[in-house]
Amino acid sequence: MGRMDGKVALVTGAARGQGRAHALTLAREGADVVIVDVPGPVSDIGSPLGSDEQLQSVAGEVEELGVGVIAEPVDVRGQEALDWVVAKAIERFGKIDVAVANAGIWTLGKYWELEERHWLETIDINLSGVWRTAKAVTPSMIENGGGSIVLTSSISAFEGNYDYAHYGAAKTGVIGLMRSIALEAGPLNIRCNAVCPGVIDTPMNDWQLPYDMFAGEAGGTPQDRIESPRHWAVLKGRGLIDPQSVSNAVLYLASDESADVTGVALPVDAGHGILPGYNGSPIAP
Ligand SMILES: NC(=O)c1ccc[n+]([C@@H]2O[C@H](COP(=O)([O-])OP(=O)(O)OC[C@H]3O[C@@H](n4cnc5c(N)ncnc54)[C@H](O)[C@@H]3O)[C@@H](O)[C@H]2O)c1
Repeated sequence: MGRMDGKVALVTGAARGQGRAHALTLAREGADVVIVDVPGPVSDIGSPLGSDEQLQSVAGEVEELGVGVIAEPVDVRGQEALDWVVAKAIERFGKIDVAVANAGIWTLGKYWELEERHWLETIDINLSGVWRTAKAVTPSMIENGGGSIVLTSSISAFEGNYDYAHYGAAKTGVIGLMRSIALEAGPLNIRCNAVCPGVIDTPMNDWQLPYDMFAGEAGGTPQDRIESPRHWAVLKGRGLIDPQSVSNAVLYLASDESADVTGVALPVDAGHGILPGYNGSPIAP
């Protein structure tokens, strides 16, 4: 018996990283999964995003687990595409029980230097895309008598973000959205919660600009990415967190084990959120 037997789950941003781990975790527990990722490049964010090839490879891994899978290139910046894939899922599986609104991007730049398109793009994907995903699945959940919507926020929602104000603003918005969805949809037996990952070991932070950020200066290395997060964790020996750790939280929030849990923002951050504050500026006054 799997913890997700008989359920159908949509996961956005599932070609790699946490989305891939969420899809495989839900599938391993018996869910049929609908996985989507961006069909092409997203402006000039400095590093490649997930590809359709990677998405299809995740679909293959899911199939090997013996559950159903739909894998489609869908950009969360478009409501029509999301509605289309949800309709396709309902046609094949009859319903959607769970949505994990995980797709996101992370770019760096000081708020006064950001170009407007970078601001708008981050809000469009990381916040509006989450709203669109929830909007796409809700009618089916209402018809089906309930569901669970899990939104990916971040520990960035709870603190100042040096060099990524736009990202932090979007992730803070996700918490507000989550609370409102939980309130409006609760009477319809639809739960909504958020996971707030700490520093997770995914391609999102595995390139030169994040290396510089982790190092606190230009010329950062992959080793800085491994060393620096150790100072961001309370728990012994923790640094970069494995995506599976976030997937375990997603599984709990998606499954009936959390039947009485809604409106919660759950950090998966090795205790980062309770650390005393420090000044992240490389030129502290
Ligand atoms: N990695 C971290 O340290 C960290 C920390 C906190 C929160 N998060 C959040 O976790 C989520 C997953 O990120 P990840 O760490 O797996 O990074 P990732 O970059 O490996 O995965 C993100 C996925 O989202 C996809 N995506 C981006 N824009 C999209 C769009 N418009 N439509 C559809 N898909 C799109 C990408 O192609 C990629 O496959 C994101 O929302 C991210 O902001 C990450």
